[in-house]
Amino acid sequence: MKNIVKLVSFNTFIPFFYPALMLPIKPWRTKAIKMLDFHTGDRVIVPGVGSGHDLSAIPNDVHVDGIDISDVMLGIGKLKLKLFGIDKHVTLNKMDAEKLLFDDNTFDKAILSLFLTVVFDAKKAFSEIVRVVKPGGQILVFDHLLRKGDIPGVIAKPVDAVLSYSFASVTRVLDDIIEGQPVTIEKVEKGDPVGLIKGFLLVKH
Ligand SMILES: C[S@@+](CC[C@H](N)C(=O)[O-])C[C@H]1O[C@@H](n2cnc3c(N)ncnc32)[C@H](O)[C@@H]1O
Repeated sequence: MKNIVKLVSFNTFIPFFYPALMLPIKPWRTKAIKMLDFHTGDRVIVPGVGSGHDLSAIPNDVHVDGIDISDVMLGIGKLKLKLFGIDKHVTLNKMDAEKLLFDDNTFDKAILSLFLTVVFDAKKAFSEIVRVVKPGGQILVFDHLLRKGDIPGVIAKPVDAVLSYSFASVTRVLDDIIEGQPVTIEKVEKGDPVGLIKGFLLVKH
């Protein structure tokens, strides 16, 4: 996270208002995760898993490794695993996505929901994720990222000045983050009713 304000906010107030913020986009998140072509026995990494909002949309015949650096978000996530009885196929661990402790080519899929706009160095984290995904593996990005050439709204810059330090950036560009990585964008879908969030399906080659 690399800044104390963000670390404090993700360990104090954000985990408590976050579920209310996530509720309206739940059907869109589920639809985006369905873009992935899951197979029984797949290994799936969820960097910045937070309190586990993606988990109920992932089939239970795959194994999920969720990682996060916020103890509080992970703590809530672990409670949910027990509550929903999905603790058998999901493992949650504290780990920095910018330095993943997994071997190259370990995972069949990666799910990056509302993560690349929060992590301190999105390019570094993304390159780590690409490293641990197998060639041919799918990476789903569900986030409010811009595309190259998009013009941010007039309020984006002032909003970013405040929010990017404590919560999430609203001006990051997907094409800049993935530049130089062996990935192709295969599909893009709307990820909320207004299209601020999008589901991007990427494949590693
Ligand atoms: C906006 S939340 C998204 C949580 C979840 N993916 C979701 O869609 O609800 C972003 C998460 O990324 C985590 N995070 C930020 N930097 C990280 C890093 N370097 N490594 C792992 N997790 C990180 C935060 O702690 C937070 O839980």
